[in-house]
Amino acid sequence: MFDQHRLSVLTDRYAGVIGHRPTACVVTFGCQMNAHDSEKIKGVLAEAGFRLSDQEESDFVIYNTCTVRENANTRVYGRLGQLKNYKKDHPHMIIAVCGCMMQEQRAAAELKNRLPFVDLVFGTFNLDRFPVLLEQTLINRLGNIHETLVEIYEKEYAGEADRLPSKRSFTFKAGVNIMYGCNNFCSYCIVPYVRGRERSRTKEEIMQEIKMLHQDGVKEIMLLGQNVNSYGKTLENPVSFAQLLECVAAESGMERIRFMTSHPKDLSDDLIRVMAENQTVCKHLHLPVQSGSNRILKAMNRRYTRENYLALVDKLRKAIPDLSLTTDIMIGFPGEEERDVADTIDLVKQAGFDNAFTFIYSKRQGTPAATMPGQIDGETAAARFNQLLEAVHETAYKRCERFVGMTLPVMIEDQNRHQEGWMTGRTEHNLLVHFPTDSCRIGSTVPVKIVESKGFYLIGRRV
Ligand code: 5AD
Ligand code: SF4
Repeated sequence: MFDQHRLSVLTDRYAGVIGHRPTACVVTFGCQMNAHDSEKIKGVLAEAGFRLSDQEESDFVIYNTCTVRENANTRVYGRLGQLKNYKKDHPHMIIAVCGCMMQEQRAAAELKNRLPFVDLVFGTFNLDRFPVLLEQTLINRLGNIHETLVEIYEKEYAGEADRLPSKRSFTFKAGVNIMYGCNNFCSYCIVPYVRGRERSRTKEEIMQEIKMLHQDGVKEIMLLGQNVNSYGKTLENPVSFAQLLECVAAESGMERIRFMTSHPKDLSDDLIRVMAENQTVCKHLHLPVQSGSNRILKAMNRRYTRENYLALVDKLRKAIPDLSLTTDIMIGFPGEEERDVADTIDLVKQAGFDNAFTFIYSKRQGTPAATMPGQIDGETAAARFNQLLEAVHETAYKRCERFVGMTLPVMIEDQNRHQEGWMTGRTEHNLLVHFPTDSCRIGSTVPVKIVESKGFYLIGRRV
């Protein structure tokens, strides 16, 4: 744990220098894992005495970076360039960069060289050190020392950030890390390099955190891991993900339980049973397929075939008829030919995805795919991407319509931003529903009759 008192004293001294209570803005790129890490960063900053803000014109700005695709990196450098100008007029400002991009080899050193006005750089393996690093950064600033403090660990280690305070983005829903890292080494993916080897938290630790969230009024949790289906394998007393999920459903008191992400090769019959038998486990599964071509799946090192995947979908739909299925698909992988794209589009139609996140392959240094022959040019990839998108939209639109006429429990998330007197909520299938109402508490679940499908979201009426 960190010394909150010492940190607050330093923040107060910094406030004295700048003449007001310092504001802090945490900017998150990437996935749910990063969003979860950012809640910890915010928790530390809030306890240190910073006022959290969404404005990048803040006294402390931190970018929690993603590196899964090249464009995420480009965006960070672009945004940092803009901050440089702002910092010229506000020399008291502190800029920090952390997250996956910094965990890449040489990335931190490169950033330090190119952007020496950045004050603090750290990686994913030492997030738990953030309080100490913040302390040192404040000491540097108060002592007028303007040099980049860089701390990157080469290897993941046991000291995780679980015990850091957290400033959750929502009162009624929360993410809970059940494991870290990934051992799959899909040939295109940088995650195993920047998030390290798979390590699971114990069931007891996880249950304790979930019970505390429940006491705090949280109604929905998302169990988070890069590959939740291989949860618990490395524990001293191995526990399967299905067992963990069953325990969470039985003991947590949560109204809704979600989880992300599942790898098709590890999805067990037991998990399907737990999903089917437990009402509080949402009938939504995110099951990345990546490609519908066996040739490409093999080159991607995904370790299943399109036939395996489609058989799994069949099994899931039989056991959980109302299931919403979403996926990730990548286009433009090295060596891809038109027939592979056709296979992928065919799989999209057969599987009937409710939605799909579609990506153009991005070359990541150090991954096996980066040096594979047959890299696809941008123009070809873009054309194939549009073809894929069309197929995804078509199936998603069709799937969304099945809810029209049904009355579904909807958990209220927010006031509708575009229409006064309307609220926005989510079904267990993870679909947004907009509906007019005069009284609705955020976080409560109400029955809503679905009157119209808009393809990717729904319009409803209170009943
Ligand atoms: N290029 C493009 N997309 C990628 N993803 C992972 N690595 C890459 C890459 N190099 C996608 C996969 C994964 C999702 C989180 O990001 O589809 O499931
Ligand atoms: Fe990357 Fe594959 Fe691990 Fe997912 S399962 S994080 S795509 S290596």
